Amino acid sequence: MNITPKWWHDAVVYQIYPRSYCDSNNDGMGDLRGIISKLDYLKTLGVNVIWLSPVYQSPMDDNGYDISDYQDIAPMFGTMADMDELLAEAKQRDIRIIMDLVVNHTSDEHPWFKEARKSKDNPYRDYYIWRQPNEDGGVPDEMGSVFGGTAWEFDEQTGEYFLHIFSKRQPDLNWENPKVQEEVHKMMNWWIDKGIGGFRLDVIDLIGKEIDKKITGNGPRLHTLIQEMNRATFGDKDVLTVGETWDATPEIAKLYSNPARDEFSMVFQFEHISLTWQHGDKWSPIPLDLPALKRVLTKWQVELADEGWNSLFWNNHDLPRIVSKYGCEGEYRVPSAKMLATTLHMMKGTPYVFQGEEIGMTNVAFPSIDDYRDIETLNFYKVRTENGVSPEDQLAAIHVNSRDNARTPMQWDDSANGGFSDAQPWINVNPNYTHINVAQALDDPNSIFYHYQHLIALRKAMPVIVYGSFEPVFEDHPAVFGYVRANDDVRVLVLSNFTRESVTVDLPESLQAEQVECLISNYTAPSTLAQTVTLQPYESFAVVLPA
Ligand code: NOJ
Repeated sequence: MNITPKWWHDAVVYQIYPRSYCDSNNDGMGDLRGIISKLDYLKTLGVNVIWLSPVYQSPMDDNGYDISDYQDIAPMFGTMADMDELLAEAKQRDIRIIMDLVVNHTSDEHPWFKEARKSKDNPYRDYYIWRQPNEDGGVPDEMGSVFGGTAWEFDEQTGEYFLHIFSKRQPDLNWENPKVQEEVHKMMNWWIDKGIGGFRLDVIDLIGKEIDKKITGNGPRLHTLIQEMNRATFGDKDVLTVGETWDATPEIAKLYSNPARDEFSMVFQFEHISLTWQHGDKWSPIPLDLPALKRVLTKWQVELADEGWNSLFWNNHDLPRIVSKYGCEGEYRVPSAKMLATTLHMMKGTPYVFQGEEIGMTNVAFPSIDDYRDIETLNFYKVRTENGVSPEDQLAAIHVNSRDNARTPMQWDDSANGGFSDAQPWINVNPNYTHINVAQALDDPNSIFYHYQHLIALRKAMPVIVYGSFEPVFEDHPAVFGYVRANDDVRVLVLSNFTRESVTVDLPESLQAEQVECLISNYTAPSTLAQTVTLQPYESFAVVLPA
């Protein structure tokens, strides 16, 4: 191992989607004071970093990923005084806060954009990306928005189109303009000076785009821009930075996360997530091919072993709930949620837990499109039903992959609205809050919550989990994912059955042992490893093998 240890190597991050976490003032919307009231809960879980999805001033077209003032808090979430209190209260509990930095685009209500659209010679015009209409007066080119439809919006006043890779209320910033870079760097330093623990950088792989060459992700100037950002802001600070990079390959991830290159701590890659999207289309879900998932997870572990650093996650605010996606919502919800947790948390990298994952929250299947709130879900429902997909089929796809699966209110207890709020929440609670909730989990020593707590504690206690080597076992097995983590002192075997059938595997001699120490298990802890091992449905365990 040639890695210089960093505090975030053995950290576990917990992501909070503020509008859905805890509502302190009963207006149906989660807020900062609600989060403050739950810090002791997070301390009990054992996490030491919170990634806060955006709480800045915003018209909320994309739930805050459309920012109109980076240095102010949206009133629905509280005030800057609440933010300062959250930072201070978290610090007292050794929890750092990382802010969500959304700088590929702003809101159309950001003062820069309001100025920019006033006239072609406005000093802020070049903060954004403008193009003339084509010869027929139409869109400059065929570029599509991630949220459906064209990526160009016509501006009446100045007679040009501006680029928006996301909603038309999220105009893309022009990173070729040095003034944009300077403004963003200044703002980042302002947050760093406040004492935050780092940044999660939203769709950061888009900032190096070259629109006229049709390049959006991984543009030629991307890494130069990031290195400049690093130098001007967090480079000499002890913070965690994680970039959201949808198209990263391991080679690309190394560019971002090799410390010698002075870019980020790590990135989020999504290869293990998009395996169930047919041809990359999330609205055409396909079943999981487990060997493919194993290959992807193994590839990332192996390729970033000595250079760069992995993030480890199953969930975030854009993704369906993992127990619904790769586990089982019904009979085996508890064992499958624990199995997925063990599989992920015993790998090398920094784990991220998304709110509610620690109690096994599931997807929701709202009966009507009117129950949904997410702009992407609503836009695609319109586009696809207009293009011939039946409303029933689109709703079925939404049940599988809508971002709102992650965004229903946190289920705290079995009281009305899951204890999230006394008022009608901004989005309905998942009806299963009556039996899936934090109060229940804290009362049950065998709950998913305590399984996560145990995994987090193991990571803090065992360097082999943080830095050990990774070697797959049973690479071609259709049901079992297995690997060995090892360092000079110890070898840990992790075996997980991803199916609802019990499976028997033949262990190679090197993995057999008369006595093993079980670190964690979701059935009966094994004490010995014979030549054959039978794993119950969704069974998984991690054991220390004798030296
Ligand atoms: C990625 C964020 O995670 C997502 O929620 C958002 O809609 C887009 N970036 C645009 O900011």
